[in-house]
Order: sequence, then C-alpha cells, then structure tokens
Amino acid sequence: MSDANIENLLHEDRLFPPSAEFAAHAVGTQALYDEADEDYVGYWMRQATERVSWFKEPTQTLDDSNAPFFKWFADGELNVSYNCLDRHLENGGEKVAYHFVGEPGDTRTVTYQDLADEVNRFANGLKSLGVKKGDQVAIYMGMVPELAIAMLACARIGAPHSVIFGGFSADAIVDRVEDSQAKMLITCDGAWRRGTIVPLKDNCDIAMDRAESLEHCVVVRRTDHGVAMTEGRDVWWHDLVDGQSAVCEPEVMNAEDLLYLLYTSGTTAKPKGIMHTTGGYLTGAATTHALVFDIKPDDVYWCAADIGWVTGHSYIVYGPLANHTTGVMYEGTPDFPDKDRLWSIIDEYGVTIFYTAPTAIRAFMKWGAQYPEAHDLSSLRLLGTVGEPINPEAWMWYHLNIGAEKCPIVDTWWQTETGGIMISPLPGVTATKPGSATKAIPGITAEVVDSDGNPVPLGSGGFLAITKPWPSMLRSIYGDDERYVNTYWSTYPGVYFPGDGAKIDSDGYLWVLGRVDDVMNISGHRISTMEVESALVSHPAVAEAAVVGVTDDLTGQAIAAFVTLRGGFEESGALLIELKAHVSTKIGAIARPKSIIFTPDLPKTRSGKIMRRLLRDISDERILGDVTTLANAVVVEAIAEQARTKADRD
Ligand code: WTA
Repeated sequence: MSDANIENLLHEDRLFPPSAEFAAHAVGTQALYDEADEDYVGYWMRQATERVSWFKEPTQTLDDSNAPFFKWFADGELNVSYNCLDRHLENGGEKVAYHFVGEPGDTRTVTYQDLADEVNRFANGLKSLGVKKGDQVAIYMGMVPELAIAMLACARIGAPHSVIFGGFSADAIVDRVEDSQAKMLITCDGAWRRGTIVPLKDNCDIAMDRAESLEHCVVVRRTDHGVAMTEGRDVWWHDLVDGQSAVCEPEVMNAEDLLYLLYTSGTTAKPKGIMHTTGGYLTGAATTHALVFDIKPDDVYWCAADIGWVTGHSYIVYGPLANHTTGVMYEGTPDFPDKDRLWSIIDEYGVTIFYTAPTAIRAFMKWGAQYPEAHDLSSLRLLGTVGEPINPEAWMWYHLNIGAEKCPIVDTWWQTETGGIMISPLPGVTATKPGSATKAIPGITAEVVDSDGNPVPLGSGGFLAITKPWPSMLRSIYGDDERYVNTYWSTYPGVYFPGDGAKIDSDGYLWVLGRVDDVMNISGHRISTMEVESALVSHPAVAEAAVVGVTDDLTGQAIAAFVTLRGGFEESGALLIELKAHVSTKIGAIARPKSIIFTPDLPKTRSGKIMRRLLRDISDERILGDVTTLANAVVVEAIAEQARTKADRD
C-alpha cells in the first residue's frame, strides 16, 4: 500500500450517523458494547446460552489454560443442524429458508421444513455409505441448495466437512483431500456459469483417481449434460436419498468437536486447513449475523458470496439458518444474462439486506447506474461489504445508487480464521465513514500496534492485532499446531496477529489497509504468492518464478508474474498463454496471472530471498528504490526495462 493511499484515507471526513428511526429499532445497541467492555467472557456466555440451543448447557466459558489453544463452552453439548433446523420447525417450518435462483432462470422455494427433510434424508444416505462421526467429507459444488444440505447433513452426523470452492481445479481438490484425508467427495455433474457448464464431476474424477482416501463420490444432477459414473464408487444424490427416512437423530456433539475445515492461503504453498469447532463457532456466527445485519423476522436477506468461501459458511448457511432467517441463494454471475441480474432479483424477492464484496461494487460502478435504476430497490434497508478494503468512491456509489442514501453500510472486516465478523459498524449505533470498517464489535478487542506490539497513538498506522480470544476463533491449523502458533501467535506473544496493516484515526476508527505478508487479495479472495509460484514452476519450461499482487481497478489486486525459463526454452507469446492456462489448471481461474514477464534472473537479497517489494514497485511502475543490497542488482534494471517495453506494447 503506498503512502499516497494512506494519505487519502486520512483525509476522509464524511460521517454517516444512523437515522433516529433505524437506531430506535436496531437489534445491536450501545448497551451491548457496555456489557462486553465490563465482562467480555460473560457477554459471550450470555450470547451462547440465549442464541444457541444446547443438549447440555455449558458451565465453562473461556478456557485459556493452554493458550493459544483456547476453548470455549467446553463442557457444552449441542448439534449445529438441530440449531439450524429442528428447533425452528414447531412454529416456523413453513418459513422460507432459501429463495433459490438458478442461473438459467429456474427457481426453487425451500422452506425450513423442506430443508430439514432433505438434510435428514441425505444424512441417512451418508450413513448408508459408511460415513460415521469424525469422518471427513469434502464438498465441491456449485451454488445449489444441495450444497447447504450437504453441509448440514455432515453437521448432523458429526462428520466434519471441508468445502472446496467450485472454481478451484482438480489439483486443488487433491491437495486439500490429501491433507484432510476425506473419505467422501460430494459434487454436482456441473455448475452453470455465464451460460456454460463448469465440469465439476470431471474434476472430481481426476481427484478420485489420485486421492487415495476417497471412497465414494456423490453427484447432484444439476446441468444434466451426461457425465461418467464409475460403478460402485459414484452414486447419484437422488438415488442415494431415494427411500431414506426423513428422520435422522442429530449426533450429540461436544462444543469443541470439529465442525469443519476450510482451506485458506498462507505464505507457503501448502494451504492451511482452518479448524472451526461447534459451540463457539455457532455462537459467533449467529450473534454477529443478528447484530451486524440487524436481523428481524420479516427480513429477506441476501449474502451474494459463494458458499465455498468462509463468508458463505457463516453468512449464507450457519448464521442465517441458526437465526431462522429467509435468504436468497443465487447460482450464477451478476452479469448473466445481463448486468442487472442482481437488481432484478432484489426487486423480485423484496430483498431487505444485501451483502457483497468491493470488487463486485467496483464492477457495478463500471457497468453504470442505469442497471440498478431500471429496478425497484426500495425494499433495501441495509447494505454490507466484505473481503478487502473498500475505496471511499465505491462506498459512496453503493450508498447513492443501491442504498438510495438511506441504507446504513456495514463494512465488515474478518477472516476465514476469525469465523465471524470482528470489526464492523453496528448499523443502529455507529456513525460510518466511507472506507473504514469503524471499530471492533461488542466482545472483540482490536488494536493497531507497532513492530514491538505496543498500541500506536491515534492518527498513526501499524499492524492490526486482536488482543483477546473470541468464541468463533480458529482452534488450530489441521495437523499443524506449530504452524498455527507461528503464523498467528508468535509475532506478538499472547496476541492474535491477522497479517493486515491498519491505521487508527483521531476518532479511534480503524482503517484496514491490506495484507502485510505474501498473500494477495484478488477479488476479495486470498491467494498466496507461493502457491502461484509453485504452480508456475511445475511447468517444464519454468526454472524460477516470482509473483506479486499489483493494484487493479476492478479486482483490487491482480497477479503479476516474473518467470525465468529453463535452458532450451524460448520466450514466446504462445508460451505465455500456455503458462497462464497452466496456473488455471493447477489452482483455478482465480489465480491466473494477469501479466507474465520473462526475465533472465530474479532480484534477490544476499540470503537468496526474492525481493517481491521490488517487483511490486516495478509492476506498479513506481520509481525504483535503493537496490545496492541486492545480490544481482543489475537484473532489476533488466526486469524494469522488460516491464516498460511490455507496458508500451499494451
Ligand atoms: C481482507 C474473508 C479490509 C483482509 C471474510 C483479511 C478486508 C482477508 C475486509 C481475509 C474489510 C476482509 N476491509 N480488508 N472489510 N474483509 N479483508 O480469509 O486482508 O477470505 O485478512 O475472509 O481479507 O480474507 P478471507
């Protein structure tokens, strides 16, 4: 992040207080901050007992005896699917859980009763294939109701799931499955995306052959384009649930039992299996969903993320269902068949709360206000954003063109690891500033610290730090406690280090500036430089590769790659295209480099570390700094020259 950006943010002084009317009826109040300030553990305990139904109520609250391996509510017993389904049925089974909208235009209304029946049947189906409590299940699907059903069925029988984003490649499935040792893979034949079919089952076939732990593949029929089914190994979802009973007793789970793994990028090539457990996670997801989104019984709530990311886990599935909310689930892209698709869905279903990412908002801006203007968006009363810092211009555009200047905007900062929203306005309390996620929510303590871990004075920048444990925090990295401690708890002892830079302004508002490690943020999704570099180096023509995230108007950051070829390989336009495609195959289209520059060597420190900062400067066309500490200073000039001629060509 350049100094100029920091300056810009500092000078943002527009303030948007909630209207008196919104404040008067808000779910989240000042009293919650006061209560949590007084006793944050007691505050979370109250949320846990009031928002969650326990088979056995916990008597223990926070257990910090083995920090940073914290436990919450450790003697409590519950089942997450019971909380999301069963307890709502007596008086609310007819309430809509999801208005599903398929990309081709098909729709489905799924009530809580429908969802419960499907989950029970599928849970029995899983059992019939030998899945037991504690077995790992991988899920690789498009955005269809069966994805939520599969997750809830796993939760029901106590089998931790790991959802793999449907845009990832077969290799990414194999990496994750080999780490989790999943014995079952659940997928769809295909997914609809901009009118074409994403061949999910084909990718699964590759993974089924390579990942030895996998025994069965269950396939939802969605695109019906004809896929190969291997006898004895692959099972159609509809055949599996056919004849199954709609009663499957929920497994009694301990609060600290694993609910799911979700893999995320770190600074090495190996993705981290972030571990979320049962009681604390559900408490966090339900509480933050209710307070930050101001959830009322009649709301039609739409989180337009993909369930393959943590946002979908916490704010399409677990939080909203625990709160008995009606939601929208949309399968496709915002520009299919035209760029007004989302606005037409808001209009049709009377959506009241809408949650999306800055990268989407920037695309809406680019497309123009005529698309939202063509629809009645007056049902909206609250907007949210997540995934990366939102530029104040994009915030204002959202406020004016989607929120009609009346909807509060909640800019929510959190991570896969935090399980739920950490820094955000409470919409009935906090006066918002465009571009700032404002302050930590009740029960969370966030500070900006210097390199020694001391809080910086108001008006300065440093590193974001979370100074107290919280219920929905990750418990560890699957199979790698040491990496958990090193990554998150070693920078400042006793303090959680998220890896983001931040500023605190003179009013104590937080401005998150982005990652300080080698993790890029592409369209709000974390991709590690190492993963893309490893993918490039796995191509036979590549000797060495370095990758950096560079500023991009639409996606926030885009990937710029620098590649040194092996002897005997020639630079060519064809090879360039091949390398980009290779990364797509290895990781997924999201990680495809936007630019590749061939270079005879890479700039390195004397200890041999690639100087990504320098490459970033070159890519952002900044003036080069002092390079005399480089082992191979001359190469920098060569690369810069390459980059300049490339820019000329573009
Ligand atoms: C970034 C997504 C600024 C941040 C829920 C964080 C944000 C990473 C915001 C986590 C925000 C997320 N403002 N930056 N409102 N929200 N980030 O794990 O760098 O996919 O560390 O979780 O996204 O990404 P993840």
